[in-house]
Amino acid sequence: MKLTINPVKKLRGVLSIPGDKSISHRAVMLGALARGITEVDNFLMGEDCLATVACFKAMGVQIEGPVAGKLTVHGVGLRGLQEPENVLDAGNSGTTTRLLMGILAGQVFCSVITGDASLRGRPMARVTGPLAEMGAVFLGRDQNNRLPMAVRGGDLKPISFQSPVASAQVKSAVLLAGLYAPGETSVTEPTPSRDHTERMLKAFGADLRVAENTVTLKGFPALRGLQITVPGDISSAAFLMVAAAALPGSEVTLQGVGINPTRDGVLEVLRKMGAGLEIFNERLQGGEPMADVKISGGKLQCTEIAGSLIPRLIDEIPVLAVAAAFAEGTTVIRDAAELKVKESNRIATVARELQKFGVDIEELPDGLVIRGGRPLTAATCQSYGDHRIAMAMAVAGLGADGQTVIEGAECIPVSFPGFSDALKKLSVE
Ligand code: S3P
Repeated sequence: MKLTINPVKKLRGVLSIPGDKSISHRAVMLGALARGITEVDNFLMGEDCLATVACFKAMGVQIEGPVAGKLTVHGVGLRGLQEPENVLDAGNSGTTTRLLMGILAGQVFCSVITGDASLRGRPMARVTGPLAEMGAVFLGRDQNNRLPMAVRGGDLKPISFQSPVASAQVKSAVLLAGLYAPGETSVTEPTPSRDHTERMLKAFGADLRVAENTVTLKGFPALRGLQITVPGDISSAAFLMVAAAALPGSEVTLQGVGINPTRDGVLEVLRKMGAGLEIFNERLQGGEPMADVKISGGKLQCTEIAGSLIPRLIDEIPVLAVAAAFAEGTTVIRDAAELKVKESNRIATVARELQKFGVDIEELPDGLVIRGGRPLTAATCQSYGDHRIAMAMAVAGLGADGQTVIEGAECIPVSFPGFSDALKKLSVE
C-alpha cells in the first residue's frame, strides 16, 4: 500500500493519541496471569497488541474486545494457561515474543512461537540465554537465537541477571519468568530501560523493589485483576510532535500522552532543539504519569543524543533524525547500536531513506550524523516493513517541496492505526 504525503504549511489542532503499545501488551499479559477480571480502557488496537491478544486466547484465556479501545481479560491465574494447539504467531511484535517467552518459560507445557520475516530475523538469544539459565528449554534456529522457537518450561530457579543491554523486553522476560521461580529473581541493567512492567506488576499486587538499576521480584505472588486506563503512546505522539516542531507557525495539543520518565527523552530533545513545549494537566493513572502536551513550531537547532538518554527515546530516533534534517547544524546520535536490531536496521534504513530527500546523513556503527538545514526534496520512500520508518518519512514529506510517496505503508497500523487521518486532521495546507 502506498501513502501519499503532500507538503503542508503547518499543523494546528487538538488530538488524542492512541494507547501506549508497551502498556497495552502488558495489560493483556498480566491480566491473563492474574485472578479475576482486568478491564482495559484506551487499549491500542494496533496489530502488535492484537497479536498478543490472539496468543493468550490460544492459551485458553477468555478475552472480550477490543471494541473501541475497551478490552476485558478474564484472568486464569499463574497456573491457568493451557497448552496452545498450534504455533503462536507474534506477527511483527518483538514485545509479544520476548515477554511471552518469559511467561512460557514458567509453563509446564510445550509451545512454539513464530512471526513475520522481520521478527524471524531478530535476535532472541538475549532472552533465551537467561531464561535457559533459569531452567527453561528452547529449541530454535541459529542456536536458539531466531524464531520459530519451541519452548518447554517449568521448574524454574531464580537468578540475578546482569543484562548487557538496556532492554525492557529482556528485563521483562526475566521478571515474568521470575513470577514462576521460588525466591527472588533480579535484573540489573547498564542504564534503566522503560519500567512499565515494574509499575504494572506492583499495581497487580506483586512484591517488587527497585534500587538504582536493579529490579528484584519475589516469585509466586497473588496477582489480582484491576482496571487500567492506558495513556496515549508518546512514541506515536512523537511523529506529530516533530512535524509540529519543524513547521513554523504550527500549534498542536496532544491530549493524554504518557510521560513516564523512562520514555520522555523526546520531550527533552525537542525542547533543546528549540521547539515550544508546554506540559499541562499532569495526572497519574494506574501508576503511569500522563499529561497534555502543546507543541509549537519554529526554527530548530542541531543537538547531540547519546548515553543514558538513548533508552528513553530509542523508538523515537527515526523521527528525531527527521527533526535533525530540518534543524540548523550538525546533529550527532551515538550509543544507539540497538537500532540495528529493531523492526529494520534503523541506522541503515533511516540514512538510506533520508538521503532520498537530499539530506546529508552519515551512518555510524552506533548512530547517525545529520547535517541539517537544507531544503528537503520530495521522494519515493520504502518502509522496509517498519512502521516507524514509514511514519518518520511521512513527517519528512510534510516539509518537502512536492508530493512524497511511502511504499509499504500497510505496516503503519502495527503501532499507530489512524496515523494518516491524524495528519489530515491537523494539516493546514
Ligand atoms: C519495548 C521495548 C523496547 C522498544 C520496543 C518496545 C517494550 O525494545 O524498542 O518498541 O515494550 O518493552 P527493547 O527492549 O529491545 O529495547
